[in-house]
Amino acid sequence: MKYEIGKIYNDDFLNNGLPDKSVQLIIADPPYFEVKGEFDFIWPSFDAYLADVEKWAKECKRILADNGTLFWYGDAKRIAYSQIILDRFFNLENSIVWRKIDSMQYQYYSPDLARSFNTHNERILMYSNEVGMTGLEKLMEENIKPNHPFAAYLREEFNRAGVTAKEIAALFPSKTGGLTGCVSNWLNGDNVITEEQYNKIRAYLNGEYLRKEYEDLRKEYEDLRKEYEDLRRYFYNPMKYEEVFEFSQEGHTSKNYDHDTVKPEKMTRAIITTCSRPGGCGVLLRRPETQSIQIRSRCEDRRGIGGERMKELAIGETGLVDGVLVKCVEWDELGEGCSGCVFYNDSVECGTARPCTAGKRKDKKNVKFRPIELCTWTEDPDGIWHTSCEHAHEFTTGTPGENDHLYCPYCGKVLDVSRQPMV
Ligand SMILES: C[S@@+](CC[C@H](N)C(=O)[O-])C[C@H]1O[C@@H](n2cnc3c(N)ncnc32)[C@H](O)[C@@H]1O
Repeated sequence: MKYEIGKIYNDDFLNNGLPDKSVQLIIADPPYFEVKGEFDFIWPSFDAYLADVEKWAKECKRILADNGTLFWYGDAKRIAYSQIILDRFFNLENSIVWRKIDSMQYQYYSPDLARSFNTHNERILMYSNEVGMTGLEKLMEENIKPNHPFAAYLREEFNRAGVTAKEIAALFPSKTGGLTGCVSNWLNGDNVITEEQYNKIRAYLNGEYLRKEYEDLRKEYEDLRKEYEDLRRYFYNPMKYEEVFEFSQEGHTSKNYDHDTVKPEKMTRAIITTCSRPGGCGVLLRRPETQSIQIRSRCEDRRGIGGERMKELAIGETGLVDGVLVKCVEWDELGEGCSGCVFYNDSVECGTARPCTAGKRKDKKNVKFRPIELCTWTEDPDGIWHTSCEHAHEFTTGTPGENDHLYCPYCGKVLDVSRQPMV
């Protein structure tokens, strides 16, 4: 299947089919192994789990851009084993502790009875793809040095004038009078010559060579550097987040989510806005149907894709089917018939001319997936938000996401922020 930007897929992450090096940010929240949730207890052994960690890591390596960032969640006691695998593919930037500021563990911890410290934290490893060289070093070697305006021009002019690097180096002796490597550094693009040094060579060559103005070359160099610096791994941290992230667990307090291990929206937003460039990133999450809403409403200037290999949606449960947020409802509930026809368990089309799901589902129920309705909010140039249920809303500051609006207060539907601004 070819994944499309802006959708969430109910599929194995390993089937993502995304092009190599196409993703700027991956937020991987894989099962932790036998901590919480049905999905966490499916491996016969920890080694079998680690074999899957390696497969996921290799797939992350394949799709992550050279200047991309990977976040990998885990449980404090086990993540070290995954880290050993991930360290082989990526460069560890931070070992983050997520301190759940309102964890239930606070209430359960009794200092009189406990024999170890309270554990209301989880871990997140942050990796770059900068293995061997930092991003800037790589850009210098691969992009800046080969196109360095000073280096190219000095080489060209020295050739034209018939002077050697050694001869020019003699103009810039060391303190003890010996030769230095300064000229080779300029010619290789390792250093930028100063205006004074440039003029000294120009004078030595009687003003016939190096006629380009120093300032013009310097500007060319700055433009080149700027162009490539934009390709560096994105990291913008005005909130000064540190290695200890302090965020509410959200899920257990708001009860907004239908999953055991959902990650807080504010933390996801902090990661996305700090580590992905506005306007052009791929965000990949595991099991993000709730987070899909978050990505669209809170980080609407980023483009995201999500993936989840999901269990069967239970009756009444919401989730994603073919990239659409739906609620699973029993066919009978809809008053549209089907109380069990002769073909029922064979999963062939029954008299209602629709495929029966009973034969394919574990619960043997005939269900239908009803799309969850969204209320789309679009901002006009004056900062007023217009809702698709025909209301106008103004916040003192920020987006609906930043104001903790997950649902439309007028119609109660799930709030969806349009990425198209009103003009
Ligand atoms: C710790 S939970 C992640 C919860 C998620 N961050 C959220 O906010 O809802 C791990 C999830 O990974 C899913 N999963 C496990 N293996 C997967 C795979 N190969 N591809 C996609 N999802 C997978 C599990 O079904 C489970 O829902």
